[in-house]
Amino acid sequence: MTDFAMAGLSLRERYWLITGSVGPRPIALVTSLGSDGKCNAAPFSAFNYMCEEPPLFAIGIDLYGDESHRCGERKDTLNNIEAGGEFVVNMVDEAILGPAVRCGTDHPADVSEVEAVGLTLVPSLTVAVPRIKEAPIAWECKLFKVLDVSRFRSIVLGEIVSMHFRDDLVDEQKVRVRVDRFHPIGRLGGPTYCRTEDRIIVPVPPFNQEGKPRV
Ligand SMILES: Cc1cc2nc3c(=O)[nH]c(=O)nc-3n(C[C@H](O)[C@H](O)[C@H](O)COP(=O)(O)O)c2cc1C
Repeated sequence: MTDFAMAGLSLRERYWLITGSVGPRPIALVTSLGSDGKCNAAPFSAFNYMCEEPPLFAIGIDLYGDESHRCGERKDTLNNIEAGGEFVVNMVDEAILGPAVRCGTDHPADVSEVEAVGLTLVPSLTVAVPRIKEAPIAWECKLFKVLDVSRFRSIVLGEIVSMHFRDDLVDEQKVRVRVDRFHPIGRLGGPTYCRTEDRIIVPVPPFNQEGKPRV
C-alpha cells in the first residue's frame, strides 16, 4: 500500500486523491437563477443523496481555482442558491454528458450556459428556476442549509420538493425508478467518466429463515 497523511498533502493533492477514490460519482447539473433573471447551469459531482425525511442531498461547492480567470471567486451556483433559495438538480446521462461538461466552463456570471451548450429550458412546477428538458430526471429543490466548512468550500444541503422523470423511467404502480432503463453517467477522476450499462444484481440475504430477502 502507498500511505498518505492528510496533513502532509496540498489541497490539490487531497482533491485528486479523494476524488479518485470516490467513484463513480453521480453528476448534478444544477440550474439556478441569477439576479438578472438569467438561468445558470453548472455540473457538480461532489453530490449525493443523504436522506428521505426530510428529502435531502448534499453538493460540495468550492471557490474557482487558480486554473480559472475567475480564481478566488465564489461560483455563480452558490451565489444564486443563497440569494434565491431555489434550484433544480438535473441528472446527467450519456445523451447530455457533453453539454453538461461544457456548462462547467468558467463562463462569466452574465452568460447563460444552457443556451451556449444547446440545452433547452422548460418551466418547473413549484420553483421559479427552470429545469433542463433533455435531462432524464430533474428534482425541483429548495435550499435547506449552507454549511461554510472552510474559506474555500461550502456544502449545500438541498431539499427536494418535486421530481420529474422521463415517462419510460418510472414504474407508476410500484412507484420506483426503472433502474434498468436509467443510465446515469458516473464521474471517476478528472475528465474520466463511465457508463452504467453493465449491471449486476446482488440482493442482501436474510440473516435467518424468517426474514425476507431485501430488494
Ligand atoms: C463533471 C464536473 C463535475 C464538477 N463537480 C464540481 C463539484 O462537485 N464542485 C465544484 O465546486 N465544482 C465542480 N465542477 C466545476 C464547476 O462545474 C465549474 O466551476 C463551473 O464553472 C461552476 O459554474 P458556476 O459559476 O456557473 O456555478 C465540476 C465540473 C465538471 C465538468
